[in-house]
Amino acid sequence: MRVAFIHTKGGVGKTTSALMVATAAAAEGKKVTVFDADPQGSATRWAEVAEQRGEQLPFAVTFVTAEQISALPRQEDALQIIDTPPGNAESIQSAIDTADLIVIPSGASPMDLDRVWPTLDTVTGRPAGVLLTGVLMHTKFYTEARQLLEDQGVPTFYNAIPQREEIKASFGMAPTRLHGYDDVYREIVEIEEM
Ligand SMILES: Nc1ncnc2c1ncn2[C@@H]1O[C@H](COP(=O)(O)OP(=O)(O)O)[C@@H](O)[C@H]1O
Ligand SMILES: [Mg+2]
Repeated sequence: MRVAFIHTKGGVGKTTSALMVATAAAAEGKKVTVFDADPQGSATRWAEVAEQRGEQLPFAVTFVTAEQISALPRQEDALQIIDTPPGNAESIQSAIDTADLIVIPSGASPMDLDRVWPTLDTVTGRPAGVLLTGVLMHTKFYTEARQLLEDQGVPTFYNAIPQREEIKASFGMAPTRLHGYDDVYREIVEIEEM
């Protein structure tokens, strides 16, 4: 299965979610590969820094261009994850076109949500779901965000990722705690089995 993490806005948790879902899948014994389609190379750097500290990630992170995405060989027994840049880069469209599932990570703030709508426009016709990330669970923003997405008929992951300093600090490490990404991975598996 090929899962792309897409959002037109930066800083919403695409790279973090891509690597944490990859970690959760690997922890369940799944073969995983991460393709880094962001020219900024944050996912690639994450893996490099981890390796320098002697903390190999349980999956490979490979840097890819837009053309390479379109030509990636399918590996049916593996989870292939594509991390993408913000904006309108060509690689985003290539990732959307090749993905079996699109995950749209988004904060629950009005500014993040405002950019979910144009993101949904770019992924029309593909199976896609919004994953609320970096949220403070017992806040009005979180409750309202869920309500808004439901009212608009936007498929949304049942599980959300809380705001945690430990998640922020996990850059350049092999994460040990999954902070709910294990439940998100299970939802992805359920979608795959549907
Ligand atoms: N659940 C979270 N709690 C706290 N900080 C987070 C969380 N998810 C992501 N972050 C932080 O937010 C920033 C942006 O995340 P990142 O994954 O790089 O987003 P994107 O790839 O969409 O630009 C990073 O500093 C990251 O560590
Ligand atoms: Mg990123």
